[in-house]
Amino acid sequence: MKVKIGILTLSDRASSGVYEDKSGVAIKEILSDWIVSECEYVYKVIPDEFDLIVQNLKDMCDAGCDLVLTTGGTGPAPRDVTPEATQQVCQKMMPGFGELMRATSLKYVPTAILSRQTAGIRDKSLIVNLPGQPKAIKECLEPIFPAIPYCIDLIGGAYIDTDESKMKVFRPKSK
Ligand code: MTE
Repeated sequence: MKVKIGILTLSDRASSGVYEDKSGVAIKEILSDWIVSECEYVYKVIPDEFDLIVQNLKDMCDAGCDLVLTTGGTGPAPRDVTPEATQQVCQKMMPGFGELMRATSLKYVPTAILSRQTAGIRDKSLIVNLPGQPKAIKECLEPIFPAIPYCIDLIGGAYIDTDESKMKVFRPKSK
C-alpha cells in the first residue's frame, strides 16, 4: 500500500503571497529523505481560518492520508487556531506528541512552551501539528518520528519504512 502524506501550511501571510512557505517545503524535504516507502504527497497553504482548517483536515484524512502534518497556528495569538481545528476533527487525541515536541524544543528556544501543538486520530489518519518556524520542523519531527510508523500501523494505515541510517523507527516486537 502506497503511503499518502498530507502537508497543510497555516499562514495568513504565506497564503496571500507575502512570503514563501518554507516550513511546508521543509516537511516534504525531510520526509522524502527519511522514508523509503513509495509516497504520495498532498500539499496546501491556507490562511488561519478555523472553518477552512477543519475542512482541509477532513479532506486530507478522507482522501486517505495516513499522516497529516500541519505547520503554523499553534501559538497564543488570536488567529492561532490549529490545535482547536485538529481537536474538532479527531475522534482521539494523542497528547504525547505535543508533550515530547515541547520538551525537546526547549533545548532550542525558551519560547517552545508557547506552542500548543498537539496530535490526534481521525479514522485511519494521524494528524500532527508542528510550529510555523521553518527551523522548528526538523527540531520537532526528529524526536517524534520514531513512534509515527507504529502509530499508523495500529490505526490500520500504510506501512512506513525508513532509511535507518537517517531515521530509525521503533516497532515493539510482537509476542
Ligand atoms: N519549537 C521549536 N522547535 N523551534 C522554534 O523555533 N518556536 C516557538 C514555538 N515552538 C519554536 C518552537 C514559538 S516562538 C512560538 S510563538 C510557538 O512555537 C508557536 O508557533 P506557531 O504559532 O508558528 O505555530
